[in-house]
Amino acid sequence: MKRSETNSFTVQEASEEDAPAILALADVHRDELGAIIHHRQWLLQQLTRGEIFVAKSGEGKVIGFVVFNHQSLKGQENTTVYYLCTDKDHRGQGAGKLLMEAVASDARIRGKKTIELKCPAHAPANDFYKSIGYQLRLSETDREGNRLNVWTISL
Ligand SMILES: CC(C)(COP(=O)(O)OP(=O)(O)OC[C@H]1O[C@@H](n2cnc3c(N)ncnc32)[C@H](O)[C@@H]1OP(=O)(O)O)[C@@H](O)C(=O)NCCC(=O)NCCS
Repeated sequence: MKRSETNSFTVQEASEEDAPAILALADVHRDELGAIIHHRQWLLQQLTRGEIFVAKSGEGKVIGFVVFNHQSLKGQENTTVYYLCTDKDHRGQGAGKLLMEAVASDARIRGKKTIELKCPAHAPANDFYKSIGYQLRLSETDREGNRLNVWTISL
């Protein structure tokens, strides 16, 4: 199992026992994340693929998670991050950065060359991605008319 630590948090691959805590965290923060809770089956599938990492506090409580997918499409070795969330009470303490570093490390091991993600254009998280080294590649409009920023980083 992959683990990385700071003084206060541990990041590791999520296990099935973490599923209720991940879903609860997603539910509490659904205004920021969207209807992730409605994708429960997909989330559980990602879990079994090893494509969810959790950040845990010293007491072992899940305080953040990231859902991602490694892809090889037409020779393009890319990892897509779908959802990233840290608990409101634990923000600004490095957990989000640690989760994203864990994804980058896993992606590198699997030979991926880039990480890509989309973020609503108005979300404060855009500044987070910029501060951890991501580059704004383009802005697009989805089918519902929402503006999305596409961020990438080379590994
Ligand atoms: C975005 C999010 C994951 C950041 O998590 P976090 O645990 O607070 O982030 P960290 O503490 O690791 O911050 C890492 C760096 O980003 C910066 N940062 C974090 N949030 C920021 C924000 N809203 N604006 C500007 N900078 C920010 C921090 O200052 C820090 O910089 P430093 O390393 O120079 O000190 C968290 O705010 C969140 O869950 N937001 C709601 C869900 C969401 O929007 N997800 C992304 C959808 S695309």
